[in-house]
Amino acid sequence: MRLSNELTRILRKARSVCVLTGAGISAESGVPTFRGAEGLWNKFRPEELANFEAFIHNPKLVWEWYTYRRKLIEDVMPNAGHIALARMETFFDDFTLVTQNVDDLHRRASSKNILELHGNIMRSYCIDCGKDEDHPDFSRQENIPRCKACGGLVRPGVVWFGEMLPQEVFQEAERSAQRCDLFLSIGTSAVVYPAASLPVTARQAGAYTVEVNIERTEQSRLFDETLLGKAGDILPAIADSLQLIKGVNV
Ligand code: APR
Repeated sequence: MRLSNELTRILRKARSVCVLTGAGISAESGVPTFRGAEGLWNKFRPEELANFEAFIHNPKLVWEWYTYRRKLIEDVMPNAGHIALARMETFFDDFTLVTQNVDDLHRRASSKNILELHGNIMRSYCIDCGKDEDHPDFSRQENIPRCKACGGLVRPGVVWFGEMLPQEVFQEAERSAQRCDLFLSIGTSAVVYPAASLPVTARQAGAYTVEVNIERTEQSRLFDETLLGKAGDILPAIADSLQLIKGVNV
């Protein structure tokens, strides 16, 4: 794949990069996306599974669903897209990976500077005292986990619909979008806010903005370039070009 002259020029001079990822980057690992033909929200009802009221109403149903997703994620591996982003990070002093994904695959691909906007499915905490309750074999537990400190209900460490994002994390993502020279938006339908505001912030701050997706999105007209294709094909090509441009063997 040949990059445009403008993207090549930007890759050569960029000092600061901000990347936003969505479920599409994990699709090639076998993690279902949310929208689209095979999306989770076509099979499951988010109002019954991914909000606090639903959890209080039926914690067992919600835990069964998150246990099913945890098992699925534990059995897959990061793909070429995740790995290419970890490579790209090594070329820049200021590289921020902002993800909407809760699947922990960026960390497993050894990316370093990761901001998890929607939490992490491998973490859990008590809804009463807030104490973390992470146990590696959680996914094999059938009953609803209870907090060892106060006996309160333990919930998955993800951000549900209607809940605030972790403010410090989102503000750091905004700062990165404001200062970056290059903003990449990868595998997201860009319909969920406030994450979908980050490309707008970057563009308004003068960054060169590039979207990577298998299809155009509601935000495509906003980007300087939309690269249509799989993240697992396009990102390794960008990483290879970067290696050539920087003349460094990794
Ligand atoms: N490579 C690149 N893009 C892909 C690929 C791929 N291999 N496969 C799918 N896509 C694109 C789809 O075209 C779609 O635009 O990824 C996008 C996935 O969109 P969604 O399923 O809506 O996921 P996302 O944008 O991450 O959702 C945002 O919504 O449900 C909530 O909290 C959940 O974090 C999630 C948020």
